Amino acid sequence: MNKNILEIRGLKVAEKRRDNNSFIVKGVDLAIRENTICSLVGKSGSGKSLITACIMGILASNLYSEGEILYRDKKLLELSEEQLNRIRGKHIGIVMQNCSCSLNPLVKNGRQLSIVLKEHLSKKDSRSKQAEKLLRNVKLDNPRSVMNRYPHELSGGMKQRLLTAIGIGGAPELLIMDEPTKGMDVILRNQMADMIYQLHKKTNVSILMITHDLELAYNISHDCYVMNQGRITTHGETKKLFETTNDCTLIDLINAQKMMTEFFAV
Ligand SMILES: Nc1ncnc2c1ncn2[C@@H]1O[C@H](COP(=O)(O)OP(=O)(O)OP(=O)(O)O)[C@@H](O)[C@H]1O
Ligand SMILES: [Mg+2]
Repeated sequence: MNKNILEIRGLKVAEKRRDNNSFIVKGVDLAIRENTICSLVGKSGSGKSLITACIMGILASNLYSEGEILYRDKKLLELSEEQLNRIRGKHIGIVMQNCSCSLNPLVKNGRQLSIVLKEHLSKKDSRSKQAEKLLRNVKLDNPRSVMNRYPHELSGGMKQRLLTAIGIGGAPELLIMDEPTKGMDVILRNQMADMIYQLHKKTNVSILMITHDLELAYNISHDCYVMNQGRITTHGETKKLFETTNDCTLIDLINAQKMMTEFFAV
């Protein structure tokens, strides 16, 4: 059994101005094992993105958190902004939900990538080589052309790949991907699934993948956590969990996805 790279214990999130009975995240325990892909699935609004915000230390200022998030031996919720900055990007990378908002429309793609690489590589030469390598790792096959274009000149799928390259620019050992296939058609979705899996295999990066896409979770994640209304309702080794579950939330999610697939297959 692989060691845990990240452990969340009793995580709660609430609004500062509300009373203690109205937690949005209501005591989440979750562990990501080294060198694995862990998926977090659940209904919209269940608190998945808030968990990522807590890990990265970017929770909105009107919210507060309780509990513990352990990355290796570090308690992330207790670190200062400066200490967190040493971990963000370099040890834990993130590709946020709503990817287009994360790119500056007026800055060419190559520069967006090199801004991240600048923090980790001092030589300009090695930066541009590394940028090409990263873009190839996320299956953007013509890296020079991608680097010379602006974000609006890329398709949605290409933007998601570019953001993934930026997310792994600091060679983190854990990458958080929030909805990596959102809004993609089936073909693009499959390509993205393949890219994520190959990236994981090639670089050994552990991945926390938040998704509504149960087929993606089933196909590429080793472990899966299911969330509803601020709580983890079940978790386990993904294939076994999906095949034997009697968890109502997971069954609802599977049925909803089946209906969609059957609907579109007609
Ligand atoms: N800054 C905030 N202040 C108050 N409530 C918030 C804030 N940010 C998020 N919420 C609420 O917390 C709940 C959980 O939000 P979150 O974004 O984590 O859901 P999610 O599971 O990621 O949903 P989705 O699958 O749609 O992305 C939602 O009801 C949301 O409206
Ligand atoms: Mg979300």
